[in-house]
Amino acid sequence: MTVSSAPGKVYLFGEHAVVYGEPAIPCAIQRRATVRVDPRSDGVTRVEAGDLTLDGFTVEYTQSVEDHPEIDVPEHLLSAATGYIDVALEQACNAVADPATGFDVAIESEIPLGAGLGSSAAVAVATIDAATRAMGTELPPERIAELAYRTEREVQDGQASRADTFCSTMGGAVRVEGDECRNIEAPELPFVIGFDGGAGETGELVAGVRKLRERFDFAAETIRAIGNLVRAGERAVERGDRRELGRLMNFNHGLLEALGVSSYTLDEMVWAARRAGADGAKLTGAGGGGCIVALGDGEQLLTALDATAVCVDAFQAELDRNGVRAEGA
Ligand code: PMV
Repeated sequence: MTVSSAPGKVYLFGEHAVVYGEPAIPCAIQRRATVRVDPRSDGVTRVEAGDLTLDGFTVEYTQSVEDHPEIDVPEHLLSAATGYIDVALEQACNAVADPATGFDVAIESEIPLGAGLGSSAAVAVATIDAATRAMGTELPPERIAELAYRTEREVQDGQASRADTFCSTMGGAVRVEGDECRNIEAPELPFVIGFDGGAGETGELVAGVRKLRERFDFAAETIRAIGNLVRAGERAVERGDRRELGRLMNFNHGLLEALGVSSYTLDEMVWAARRAGADGAKLTGAGGGGCIVALGDGEQLLTALDATAVCVDAFQAELDRNGVRAEGA
């Protein structure tokens, strides 16, 4: 039995603008998906999702995902469990000399699903690491990041950026620009995350920004302004200047709001965190609903977010310098 875990992420700066070639800075957070893999030799794959912060369920299927058994869970949960894992296992099998024909897989995740915290990337990364090690091959992290990126790209019909999978594999703060991803030095970053229980529709939100950008020069300028802000943010990360980081996070949220991707619930949580003394706060990910990230010291921000009616969950999650790692069985 082999066990690996990989972290989720927040965007410190740059979501949406990154789609148009501007840089972005995602950061790994101390919230992990843990995947246990046992190879089998009978062609059957069994996936147990004990805790995806949703009801637990088990699915069993032979190598083809088309062979789903009748099972009483919503279709999107079934594809969450089988889609990413099936393709991640396929990528893992292609990367080893002697692939297994089936697997027992058990997943536990502390990362809310579909909330912009990179849960699917963390599951893909941990699955690939655990499965390849279970089949006797230790892959370098760059290769794991590449295979996890291919997994997301395949499951998401070609719509994936390298940011989530690279960040989850390597940990720490990452600078992404086009296909170029690299770690950057970062200070301690105490994050508090607020979750409204919902999730925006990433494809629709990205399409909405694209339309605005085509129609209005000032929307295109807003996207370029986010790029410039990220470059200033990168220098602030490297200097370890938390106050400046907070200021820039606030600025970034304002620009995202101007692009129409914030929401009432996200704005409420952002303001609750700011009023409670956060250095800064912004939405993270595609927007429309989901999560905000605030920079600041814990308790006060947590209390303020918990007291906000629209916030269903608030938690601390420091920058995680560790990416994917082997866990004791
Ligand atoms: O919500 P997430 O974590 O999947 O992030 C989406 C980030 C976008 O920049 C809006 C889209 C993208 O593919 O980069």
